[in-house]
Amino acid sequence: TVQLNPVIEPLSWMLGTWLSDPPGDGTFPSMKPFQYLEEVHISHVGQPMLNFSFNAFHPDTKKPMHRECGFIRIQPDTNKVAFISAQNTGLVEVEEGEVNGQELSIASHSVARISFAKKPHVEQTIMEAKGASKRVCVDLNNMGKRKKWHGISPGSLFSSKSAKEPKIEDHFIQKESITRKFRLNSEGKLEQTVSMSTTTQPMTQHLHITYKKVIP
Ligand code: HEM
Repeated sequence: TVQLNPVIEPLSWMLGTWLSDPPGDGTFPSMKPFQYLEEVHISHVGQPMLNFSFNAFHPDTKKPMHRECGFIRIQPDTNKVAFISAQNTGLVEVEEGEVNGQELSIASHSVARISFAKKPHVEQTIMEAKGASKRVCVDLNNMGKRKKWHGISPGSLFSSKSAKEPKIEDHFIQKESITRKFRLNSEGKLEQTVSMSTTTQPMTQHLHITYKKVIP
């Protein structure tokens, strides 16, 4: 077996093959509550990142349902974490956040999807003007590209011809559309909670699941 890269030691509590126990709970205001099974495989190959796959199944028919896979990285010498995921629904997303002890909290800063993804969509990441100017500028794919921004009070962001332009963060807050929390509970089980906002619903919990480790 390959030795764990020390950079990802703070996430080593996530490693292993995990199986839902009990079945996960799915909820959302627009849908009937449902249950699901999920197999999780979190591994590493010696690189400073984790590799993951989450594979959900129907609890009765065992028919495959939602699937996603990707990577979890840590910015070296910090507790800053990036979570990169591709989902079978046609969604790809980047979430960032922090690991603190055996708890990882992350929120999306970018989502993209295939043109024919099922609706309603998870809300696009948008940036909202801070302070008085409440008019919103839409990101849509090119965060930070000047010509994409509209409705900003004159002079606030891009009017400056000087070398030192204000940074985007000075003027906007980013609105996330997917948030997740992972934690290792006192029984040594892994827990995941996912919330999301869609084009039709505000941020609400979609999933809660507890997994038992089946293979180290
Ligand atoms: C529905 C997103 C993970 C099962 C939905 C909807 C969205 C969504 C946007 C439509 C909501 C509506 O109709 O108002 C996501 C995201 C996920 C995720 C972003 C991961 C981050 C999962 C997982 C399961 C699941 C792991 C487990 C089986 C379902 C089901 C529905 C649904 C059964 C309702 C029927 C359908 O639209 O297919 N999800 N989902 N989702 N999701 Fe998820």
